[in-house]
Amino acid sequence: MDYHKIANEIKDKLDIVDVIREYLPGLRQRGRNYVALCPFHSEKTPSFTVSREKQIFYCFGCNTGGDLIKFVSKYENLTYVETLKKLAVKANISIDMDLLNDSSEEEKEKILIKQINLDAMFMFQKYLKSSEGKKAMKILMDRGFKSETIAHFGIGYAPDSYDLVFKELSKKYPENLILKSQLAISSSGNIMDAFRNRIMIPIKSISGSVIAFGGRSISSDQQPKYINSSETPVFMKRKTLFGIYEAISNIRKTKKAIIVEGYMDVMMMHQYLFNISVSPLGTSFTYDHANSLKNCAEEIIIMFDSDSAGINAALKAADIIIDVGVYPRIALLDEKNDPDEFLLKKGTDEMIKLINTAKDPIEFKIDIVRKKNHKLTPEKKMKILEFMATTLSKQKNEIIKDEWIKKISAELSISESAIKNYLDKNTKETRQQIKISENEDMVIEENFAEILIKRPEFMSIVEMEELSEEDLRSDFARKIYETIKNNFQNSKIIDVLIEKIPQYKNKIMKIMIEEKNEEEIKNATNFHKVVLMIKKNSMEREWNSLKSRVNELTPEELKRFNELSIKLKNLKI
Ligand code: UTP
Ligand code: MN
Repeated sequence: MDYHKIANEIKDKLDIVDVIREYLPGLRQRGRNYVALCPFHSEKTPSFTVSREKQIFYCFGCNTGGDLIKFVSKYENLTYVETLKKLAVKANISIDMDLLNDSSEEEKEKILIKQINLDAMFMFQKYLKSSEGKKAMKILMDRGFKSETIAHFGIGYAPDSYDLVFKELSKKYPENLILKSQLAISSSGNIMDAFRNRIMIPIKSISGSVIAFGGRSISSDQQPKYINSSETPVFMKRKTLFGIYEAISNIRKTKKAIIVEGYMDVMMMHQYLFNISVSPLGTSFTYDHANSLKNCAEEIIIMFDSDSAGINAALKAADIIIDVGVYPRIALLDEKNDPDEFLLKKGTDEMIKLINTAKDPIEFKIDIVRKKNHKLTPEKKMKILEFMATTLSKQKNEIIKDEWIKKISAELSISESAIKNYLDKNTKETRQQIKISENEDMVIEENFAEILIKRPEFMSIVEMEELSEEDLRSDFARKIYETIKNNFQNSKIIDVLIEKIPQYKNKIMKIMIEEKNEEEIKNATNFHKVVLMIKKNSMEREWNSLKSRVNELTPEELKRFNELSIKLKNLKI
């Protein structure tokens, strides 16, 4: 099967602007191109650009770019082959669905893990309807779930057995893959089912693949209450929102989303037709979550518990949502109610009321301050300003920001100019720091690419230091790296470069013609230093990004964080 041919046929039939607009309804024309907020990194002004003429997209913020196949594959987290299949259907191209046989090992593995999950979902559904599942079904019914809702979310039941699910799956799939899917676990030589005697909630990707499960205990002596699949090649907890597949088209239509805390809340919200609801998977709300919603929703309502943990989580989520350029509102639930219980007790109208009275985050903070402080001493005002500033400084919309400053000034009797001064002083410093280091990174990488173009044999130094594509931020450097790496043997490296990366033709020509850096270019030690510096920058970026959410790291991430800390400390250039 010729992928290339299928890919070209797809690209002939589908227009990149039309396809991307389905994912990013906010895409709008600017000059000859179309722009939107980039779905792949956080930004407040659109640098994600799509060209109809060239049929490519490119983000000037994070340097991600490519054709429509690349976009869909990245956005939906699909493998190349899965993307071809999906787009072929869309373009009405008939392809041999056995395409699978030609995929890379990694792709095959991902596709198979999703298939295992899908098979397991059907199996769990079957058990829920069988006599073994009666107890679980009764619990769901008693909790007020309708059979339509149960079917809509694909809820099932994992039988109370040692390895029934594993045995059933191993008729079709190899043992190592079942283990990789995390549906079975190996303990002291024996393999047993990961989920036993639990209500099974399938977790789906935005395009509907089953990528993991949440298993709810069915009695209070069964602990913990939920078991979630561990991370697999197709499942990353902090990037996934439960309910996103069921909600996404409604979110796109209404441009609104609701964040609730748990599985049951999402399902009950959908049952009551608040079908724009999603939830994190027991972690806090992350930038990844916000980024996956920002191009579809203009407003996100955060509906959390009213205890102090809930309030803090809501405020953090609100700041993240503001930071990605979307407008959050906070709705707190009264008493000890989940949205789930709230709906069952009070019904649709009360929920609509609650949503309508959801508060702007600054108003929400002002309320908190009002409740706490009786007397506003200067010290207290300073503290309040700090508290407000985390939210204010994220707001890039000048009109909203201005409104907020006025409100804070009036409510807390702090002058507007004092607030503005405080913000200026605190944001400028950090912004400058970031700017300088970003530029430095880029300059070094461009230098790296220049030398590599002239001395492709230095690739061995790059490989020796295990510098990879992901270490590079500059798109140009990445493309040069990739092309030279894959065409190392070719003596006409310049021809290859121009053919493979025509978008940089001029730049490559210029570098070839320019006569600067000759000394530097001859010197392998110098190049080695450049490679090490890039490696260091990359590790620092990763370290910073882990540090920024150090309280919510998974054990693997924490391990990586510590590893990086040590490596960075020991690094000598
Ligand atoms: P909740 O305890 O509020 O659960 O945890 P829930 O969804 O309302 O479930 P019910 O109504 O008690 O049946 C909120 C979310 O936190 C995660 C789950 O994602 C859950 O939906 N969680 C909770 C876990 O991952 N593990 C746990 O043991 C508990
Ligand atoms: Mn609940």
